[in-house]
Amino acid sequence: MGCADENVLSWCRGYVKAIIDELRPAGDVLEVGYGRGIAAAHIQNCKPKSHIIIEPDRDLAEKARKWAKSHPGVTVVEEPWQKALAKLKTFDAIFFNENSFENEIGAMLWLNREAATLASRSAQEVVSEIEGELALAKIHYSDNEIDEFCDKMLKTHKDEFARFFSGMKRRGNITDKQYEHILQKYKIKKEDAKIASFDFKKHAASLFLFIQECLKSHVNKGGRISCFLIDATSKYEDPQFFQNFITNPAINFTEKLVPIKMKDASKVEPGLVVVVEKL
Ligand SMILES: C[S@@+](CC[C@H](N)C(=O)[O-])C[C@H]1O[C@@H](n2cnc3c(N)ncnc32)[C@H](O)[C@@H]1O
Repeated sequence: MGCADENVLSWCRGYVKAIIDELRPAGDVLEVGYGRGIAAAHIQNCKPKSHIIIEPDRDLAEKARKWAKSHPGVTVVEEPWQKALAKLKTFDAIFFNENSFENEIGAMLWLNREAATLASRSAQEVVSEIEGELALAKIHYSDNEIDEFCDKMLKTHKDEFARFFSGMKRRGNITDKQYEHILQKYKIKKEDAKIASFDFKKHAASLFLFIQECLKSHVNKGGRISCFLIDATSKYEDPQFFQNFITNPAINFTEKLVPIKMKDASKVEPGLVVVVEKL
């Protein structure tokens, strides 16, 4: 599904552009997560020597390969980074975005356009709030709306599908009958609903591991890493980041809060742009 809401989409686009502008990718570039190809296009505008995209989703990897045909120097690796990275060499610039953040927030916004706001508070708080509002609003969805939504959601959001719809049933947004129908139609097992919700800690841990691995074996001297961050809280407040990267004398760490315009240009939400540079 991706950023379903126009405001969120516009924020995502603006934020990704701000990150790539700051990263200034040149030389050999690695990108993790193709998604809609927004970052890939910005990276290509910087004319890198080579550009490897890691994308494990078969459909998205196919889209990336199609796009790569008109962009010489781009190679697509269809694997999760956890598998692909060890086989790759070193890079001058790395952009990391494996987040399904767009999907989680986007899904909720899509279902609850009126109530949703993308706040600058922690994303976890925002998700709980929107879920709460969904419950309070007692919105009920028709079979058609659900079918349209399922089709979109299944494409990029398989892992959270069962949990999400179990929540919809619990909150009364869909009936028991509609829930059973969804499980049957999309061959989803009820146990899958127990899969944890979008886990911000898991994503932070994954980002940390990724940067650590890259610094160890995949970044050239002077090479730079940046990433899409779900939460605009300063990385100085993240003890793991602080101890391992920010205070590491072999690393130059910078961060800045950039105001990102929403589609409705009167609204601005911040995005945190960080760069980890190997000295
Ligand atoms: C938010 S999208 C990326 C957006 C993209 N960078 C852009 O600017 O348009 C996240 C992408 O990461 C991919 N992804 C998820 N887990 C991954 C993993 N373990 N390794 C690499 N990519 C992953 C998803 O399939 C999805 O395409």
